[in-house]
Amino acid sequence: MSPAARTDPVLTDRLLLTPIGVQHVDELAILHQEPLVDHWTGPWTPALVRTWVNGMAERWAVDGVGKWIAHDRSTGVLVGRGGLSRMVIGDEAVLEVGWAVRDTSTGNGYATEIGRAALAWAATFSPEVPVVAFTEVHNAASVAVMRRLGLRRSGVIHREGLVAGRPGLHARAPFVLYRQDVAGPGRA
Ligand SMILES: CC(C)(COP(=O)(O)OP(=O)(O)OC[C@H]1O[C@@H](n2cnc3c(N)ncnc32)[C@H](O)[C@@H]1OP(=O)(O)O)[C@@H](O)C(=O)NCCC(=O)NCCS
Repeated sequence: MSPAARTDPVLTDRLLLTPIGVQHVDELAILHQEPLVDHWTGPWTPALVRTWVNGMAERWAVDGVGKWIAHDRSTGVLVGRGGLSRMVIGDEAVLEVGWAVRDTSTGNGYATEIGRAALAWAATFSPEVPVVAFTEVHNAASVAVMRRLGLRRSGVIHREGLVAGRPGLHARAPFVLYRQDVAGPGRA
């Protein structure tokens, strides 16, 4: 069922998706201590988590869109985070869809479920803005989610991130860019 307003929580088959706010700092800190999440999206210090959460709360307030925190809808257990961020790539305004799931919760389709909810949200509240996703070229698990969602590979961009076989963060790491076809799922 579609939420009535942009900032309403979203219910999926298994998840409750809630706009991230300052009350979620402790749970985001737990999520970002997970080794896989830390590897691909970090490194995170407690201060950085707090700054990121404050920034996300502001995005919801200013942009009317942002990332959700994901809980199991029946147990309330923290599953991960994900959703949309407004950004400009090149000179194009887009909505970026992303996801991170607790290490022990991967392999269950939760990231795909979050991504599907984000595509539905975009189709309802922001149908004129293209939806894209990107990740380091060697993040196979995240690329697989993009494919499961029916996104189409559309190029490579460079930004700060990881490079296969070279430790640390690199200023111009290659990221694969995927995008939703205009007539694709959720936009019919
Ligand atoms: C990227 C990430 C979210 C992918 O998680 P994931 O669990 O592999 O992806 P999904 O939630 O879509 O689950 C897909 C897996 O669940 C299985 N699955 C089980 N039930 C499923 C269902 N109902 N629907 C879809 N897939 C299901 C699939 O077969 C697949 O397993 P496989 O990888 O063995 O083929 C996770 O690896 C992660 O959090 N990584 C760290 C953070 C990160 O890299 N984020 C992206 C930064 S750009």
